[in-house]
Amino acid sequence: MAKKNVTDLNVQGKKVLVRVDFNVPHKGDVVTDDNRIVAALPTINYLTEHGAKVILFSHLGKIKHKDPAETEEQKKKNDMAIVATALKKLLPETKVTFVNATRGKELEDAINNMQDGEIVLMQNTRYEPGESKNDPELGAYWASLADLYVSDAFGSVHRAHASTVGVPSHIPSAVGFLIEKELKYLGQALDNPQRPFVAVLGGAKVSDKINVIENLLKIADRVIVGGGMAYTFYKAMGYSVGTSLLEEDKVEVAKEFIAKGKDKLILPVDNVVADDFDDPKDIKVVDFDAIPDGYMGMDIGPKTIELFTSKLQGAKTVFWNGPMGVFEKPGFEKGTVAVCKAIAELPDCMSVIGGGDSASAAKNLGYAEGFSHISTGGGASLEYMEGKELPGIAVIEDK
Ligand code: 3PG
Repeated sequence: MAKKNVTDLNVQGKKVLVRVDFNVPHKGDVVTDDNRIVAALPTINYLTEHGAKVILFSHLGKIKHKDPAETEEQKKKNDMAIVATALKKLLPETKVTFVNATRGKELEDAINNMQDGEIVLMQNTRYEPGESKNDPELGAYWASLADLYVSDAFGSVHRAHASTVGVPSHIPSAVGFLIEKELKYLGQALDNPQRPFVAVLGGAKVSDKINVIENLLKIADRVIVGGGMAYTFYKAMGYSVGTSLLEEDKVEVAKEFIAKGKDKLILPVDNVVADDFDDPKDIKVVDFDAIPDGYMGMDIGPKTIELFTSKLQGAKTVFWNGPMGVFEKPGFEKGTVAVCKAIAELPDCMSVIGGGDSASAAKNLGYAEGFSHISTGGGASLEYMEGKELPGIAVIEDK
């Protein structure tokens, strides 16, 4: 059933707690990619324009609460203050107050002193040890700060944490425009794809993609597998993979996929291999069944680029997640670039990138405009495409 949307709430004069995903890449004091902040602006602006008092909260990075010295170090590295600076730049007309606390008097006073249309951003939710454990006390406390809850943190809805699941079980809830958009595109690909539907899956590990490969072998018309994962499939076919990435314990699963997938499953037919990962001196292109001992696969080869491009032609729906090789290393980016370009140039095709590395690749390579949708959630979009229920969505009130 459809979930309540922010427009279903009467927000005028209300305190609205908005879970955003401001888990953004940053270096030192600077946010290096503000896409996730920009993606949350339509909901934030709607709320401020409709007279809400907007309390934003999000996690940033990972914080373990084991060793106190290490925790302090991680807190310093993931201080939400840097995001506040980036947010203020994007919203020069709106009063944005950063509160360096996740609970207590300072936070409560700041919220109680808000005027309609203002924003308070609190400190990183993961400063709280109870956040990732969905501590009931923490969820109830955060809920007590507001009248309404809006979730727009698509990148975090696969996490059952206090800020994503705890809070909305106490106060009326709705999703924001970003989550609505994400569900529209991902939902269309998964539940109602225009055919042919081609899935392109890459990345290093079969173990990260088992469930999505399994589900998409049922739903898609073609499943193209590239990247480091492919070598475990070669091994399953009985070929030697040199020093390439290999998950021995996933060879049996790969065998099952090959048997189930038949012609639907498309693997690379050649690879760019190198003698060393860090300092490659000898680089060559070899067929899939001829990887020499001591060499590792770094990218798909030219014949594979041609094959994958041809298998993409005519596609009406494409879901892409994961690079085709070690694309961050100069010289081994060709496969990822070619696949990205081939998808971006498909006419009349609903193309979706499932976040993560492929999303950054498309943006950095200048192909973002060629995609119908680039998801802001790597893990979340993968779990969605696995057909799993996402706890941060399930908990939101139905229409
Ligand atoms: C992400 O970057 O995928 C989301 O923000 C979730 O972050 P997490 O994996 O640290 O929970």
